[in-house]
Amino acid sequence: TTVPILTELKMKCATPLPLLQRIADAMTSDMRAGLAADNGSDLKMILSYVDSLPTGNEKGLFYALDLGGTNFRVVRVQLGGKQNNVSIPRELMQGTTEELFNFIASKLANFAAKESGKFQLPKGRMREIGFTFSFPIKQTSIDSGILIKWTKGFAVLGTAGKDVVACLKEAMQRQGLDMSVSALVNDSVATLAGAKYWDDDVLIAVILGTGTNACYIERKDAIPKLQWPAGGTRNMIISTEWGAFTTDLPLTEFDKDMDSESINPGEQIFEKTISGMYLGEIVRRVLLKMASFSSLFGDSIPEKLLIPTPDLCAMQQDDTKDLSKVEEILSNTIGATRSTLKARKIVVDICDTIVKRGGRLAGAGIVGILQKMEQDSKGLISGKRTVVAMDGGLYEHYPQYRNYLKDAVAELLGAEVSKNIVIEHTKDGSGIGAALLAAANSKYASEFQ
Ligand code: BG6
Ligand code: GLC
Repeated sequence: TTVPILTELKMKCATPLPLLQRIADAMTSDMRAGLAADNGSDLKMILSYVDSLPTGNEKGLFYALDLGGTNFRVVRVQLGGKQNNVSIPRELMQGTTEELFNFIASKLANFAAKESGKFQLPKGRMREIGFTFSFPIKQTSIDSGILIKWTKGFAVLGTAGKDVVACLKEAMQRQGLDMSVSALVNDSVATLAGAKYWDDDVLIAVILGTGTNACYIERKDAIPKLQWPAGGTRNMIISTEWGAFTTDLPLTEFDKDMDSESINPGEQIFEKTISGMYLGEIVRRVLLKMASFSSLFGDSIPEKLLIPTPDLCAMQQDDTKDLSKVEEILSNTIGATRSTLKARKIVVDICDTIVKRGGRLAGAGIVGILQKMEQDSKGLISGKRTVVAMDGGLYEHYPQYRNYLKDAVAELLGAEVSKNIVIEHTKDGSGIGAALLAAANSKYASEFQ
């Protein structure tokens, strides 16, 4: 029957406090090892070369390009920006480098053309872009970086090992588009910069969307691998690329099968356990097993291939007595047209189990970062208001996930400490953040004085 499968799933996905604490501790020590040396741990701890955050005095007109997991957007920022959101065609995620960058440059060109009459730049000045590129990049300066590998649904040929700013510039030239890239940033870094603009207590930013990542403000003297010329500012944002974390994660056969059939087997295991691209797929795999071992959905074995994570969320919000929304979604997604109320309750329970594990593990990751910051900079966190800026579709739209995450943070830190930790959603901080970073690193900075 279904009961042993469900009981075993719950057991394997359990995240009791001692396990969460071990995971937070492992996150802290992986961070330290990754700061000491490239390839020092699962976490790349990528230097962002963002070492001065927007002051609020930046002026002018800037553009932001944001290549995320599912959407791509172009933003114009001049106090209250305008933006254009386009979903990324699936075939481009697995096509060639040239096709992808041509697409980006052409969308940018369209947007800039529509806007050009409305906003004038001083004569002779090129339009500048902050380019948010949400994949692991080996950065050597604020405006260049080499793609280490694709993550999430991307497997574009030939981009790994290339400077993505150079790829964009070539595509812009092909379009005859005269714009320059002043800052290349990860989405988590852009979110931190955008959120800090409004609230100075922001020290960490976390993305929970299609994929996941976290970044934070680190002291340069706590980054042994940083070769930095003397002088400059004291801090730098580090993008942890925590999606690659692995230690002690409570994984099931469903996670392992999903991983081995994914386009990046063995990689991004934390991401595959906690982020939006994968949660629905894990649940689908559990349901398929249950359906084949028992008659959870009558005699028919569901065939269709997808349960998007927003559908898990919708099923968990179903407050009808007979769970009719659950029934509708099961029918539309996996093709299960004959479910009993009991079966639908089990489905909701499965969603909850996977989402609870994801949210609580993400919470443990945040505590790992807070611990690292506190240990290396005594008093940085404790007793002070500390804001963790959150963004991404999963966090924004899934109330249960948010609550599980916050509960785990509170349980791990205890009431006294956690009352100073503010975990809050920053909507679209990354577009503004990237444009602000382009402004802060503008080629024309001296003209702003
Ligand atoms: C958006 C941010 O809100 O969230 C992007 O502006 C980020 O920069 C995105 O990449 C991540 O969420 P999703 O759900 O699009 O992967
Ligand atoms: C993936 C990417 C990372 C990005 C995150 C959130 O983990 O590797 O760079 O920040 O998704 O979009």
